Amino acid sequence: MHLLLFFICILTVSQATNDNQQTALWNLFKRVHKKQYANILEEQYRFVVFTDNLAMIDRHNHEADIGLHSYTLKINQFADMTHEEFVRKMLNGVKMPSKTDYMKKSNKNSLHPPSDVDIPAAVDWRKKGAVTKVIENQGQCGSCWAFTATGALEGQHFLKTGKLVRLSAQNLMDCSGEFGNQGCNGGWMDASFQYIKANKGIDTEASYPYEAKDGNCRFNPKTVGATDTGFVDLPKENETALQIAIATVGPISVAVDASHSSFQFYSSGVYDEPQCSSTNIDHSFILVGYDTFKNSTVKKDYYIAKNSWGDAWGDKGYIWMSRNKHNQCGIANIGSYPLV
Ligand SMILES: *[C@@H]1O[C@H](CO)[C@@H](O)[C@H](O)[C@H]1NC(C)=O
Ligand SMILES: *[C@@H]1O[C@H](CO)[C@@H](O)[C@H](O)[C@H]1NC(C)=O
Repeated sequence: MHLLLFFICILTVSQATNDNQQTALWNLFKRVHKKQYANILEEQYRFVVFTDNLAMIDRHNHEADIGLHSYTLKINQFADMTHEEFVRKMLNGVKMPSKTDYMKKSNKNSLHPPSDVDIPAAVDWRKKGAVTKVIENQGQCGSCWAFTATGALEGQHFLKTGKLVRLSAQNLMDCSGEFGNQGCNGGWMDASFQYIKANKGIDTEASYPYEAKDGNCRFNPKTVGATDTGFVDLPKENETALQIAIATVGPISVAVDASHSSFQFYSSGVYDEPQCSSTNIDHSFILVGYDTFKNSTVKKDYYIAKNSWGDAWGDKGYIWMSRNKHNQCGIANIGSYPLV
């Protein structure tokens, strides 16, 4: 009898602790991410979604502790979204325009690097000053393509002129429709490079700041921050060529399958998702380098990817994507960079 009571008591106490902890984490989450809900019902629903995500994240991290995963997850701004909502709202940004939209205006080049190029074991363009700080947060707008294009051009512009200038994603969103881009409804990096060439430049972010919504074109030729003369596509599905390009050219724009909960809540380590598709592409970002994670039991190659979901997401805004792992997530499907 005593024993039974004792157990019930313990159970109740630990359940209460768990609930209190969840409530504390929920309150912290709402404060940090400035969340406001329309009414109490909506908030109750969001809390349930949050606790589901929390349980999934805890489970994953316990598995990572015992060596089952090479990366961890964490609560971030997407923790009150179901996975379906995340995919619908955040992964609608990569749309290849029909060829007629921009290819007829295009001076397409392809890079076919020689196979005997010696490349370093590790590259990080951030250390050379070629990468702007992560402050971008695309918000709930399918504009990843615009940040990918500006990121790649910021790198090439720096390597040519020695000046690192943050460029305007909003300029691309508002003004490059003629090239097949659709603002918050998606777009394409190569089409952006074509627009910038035809437009004779793109404005600086300072002069044409990000608004996370579609607007009228307000391009101002007086505040151009950089320009390009076209673009180069990398050979498809070839990770060797991709690595040579990162090492010898600079930051490269790519697109991947990001449609997994593991990507939604990625925190740190080498992202390795066996479910990742190498054909279904839904998100884009730039690769700013590559390296290898090593300890006494693990050796894993990775690419350093700069995302556009703010610096609270992932590893200060970055994710380490698996490298030399059969083109995981389609990382080498559509690499390109602008010519300057
Ligand atoms: C090596 O790193 C992995 C994470 O990828 C970790 O799970 C493992 O415990 C580490 N091993 C040692 C010996 O530190
Ligand atoms: C991949 O690219 C490298 C470097 O250009 C080249 O040597 C190799 O033949 C390519 N592989 C395939 C399968 O095309």
